[in-house]
Amino acid sequence: MSTRVLRHIGELTTNDPTQGDQSAMGRILNAAMVLDEHEVLWTGPDAKAPAADEMIDVAHCAVVPGFVDSHTHLVFAGERSDEFEARMAGRPYDGGGILRTVASTRKASAEQLREATSKRSHELRLGGVTTLEVKSGYELTLDGEARLVGLAREVTAEVTFLGAHVVPEEFGHDREGYVQLVAGAMLEACTSEAKWADVFCDRGAFDVDEARLVLTSARRAGLGVRLHANQLADIGAISLGVELDAASVDHCTHVSDADLEALGASRTVATLLPGAEFSTRSPYPSARRFLDAGVCVALASDCNPGTSYVTSMGLVIALAVREMGMTPDEALYAATRGGAMALRRDDIGRLSPGSRADVVVLDAPRSAHLAYRPGAPLVRETLLSAP
Ligand code: NIG
Ligand code: FE
Repeated sequence: MSTRVLRHIGELTTNDPTQGDQSAMGRILNAAMVLDEHEVLWTGPDAKAPAADEMIDVAHCAVVPGFVDSHTHLVFAGERSDEFEARMAGRPYDGGGILRTVASTRKASAEQLREATSKRSHELRLGGVTTLEVKSGYELTLDGEARLVGLAREVTAEVTFLGAHVVPEEFGHDREGYVQLVAGAMLEACTSEAKWADVFCDRGAFDVDEARLVLTSARRAGLGVRLHANQLADIGAISLGVELDAASVDHCTHVSDADLEALGASRTVATLLPGAEFSTRSPYPSARRFLDAGVCVALASDCNPGTSYVTSMGLVIALAVREMGMTPDEALYAATRGGAMALRRDDIGRLSPGSRADVVVLDAPRSAHLAYRPGAPLVRETLLSAP
């Protein structure tokens, strides 16, 4: 197996507190790193860099772990920029619009969906995303959801079944029947390709009892669980997530002190999605409240056609810093290690011996430039570990 050494790294963020300055960021200045096709073999000061088969001189740029985007809805068809325009003109977001994408997605061919999904995942990759999670949720029929998880599986192993996104029109008078379908036959049709199950647990979507039913069935079927929680209102979705030991509760725009205390004492990650507040012109939650309560925070894009058509983790980091009270280091950590923890993965989101060789070289001397220079194409090179 051939090895490569990255030399002259101006600032290396390892996210491993045993490395470098021993902070949470595990930072090493004037660093070097040795990799093979699969994993990181060595990190340390450039002056002590061992030899390798190939040398890459990164000319004093900053190097960070590849971004882990742990929440996306990439598989969809159709167009909804008019909803964004209406919100920017003052119309409030109420959770609507999903059924418009359901109608377009049901009509699209597998090839059309494959092409659209691959274009969006390519955009994420160009911005330094090396691991992404992808949800279903835009067909809401047994065959349709099975088709979407299959298409998602073509771009990632982190596939989430979101049959409980909203109740489709044909079940408008039988929501109980729809919940039974999702928790039964639809789930069964999706378990071979999906690793996770998610429920949109919020005002106007599914309540806590419905979400509990779907997620406990999913867990029995061998899936991990995660939730869209309290984006529009505090309906108790975060405490349900903690009760179920969910890997992550996502959005958390409305959070009580009791929720923060419960999260802080749990291993459930709070995944904040500032692209959604940006695109719906909603108040941002304070990330400081979560961090001060000892909660593990992740940042993700929530890329979807309705509330966050965002494929730039650089933008997500900049928004979290500017609008949610995170420091640039906290935001970078949340977009890398935080995302890894939201997917319960220890092999990604860090750069230290044994981690995957998923590396982003920035066109900047320090990683703080990600928030300092929003909109600039700062990803100079992405190295992706072989599967
Ligand atoms: O995460 N909140 C639920 N689902 C998406 C919105 C999807 C849509 O509007 O199409 C979200 O924001
Ligand atoms: Fe979402």
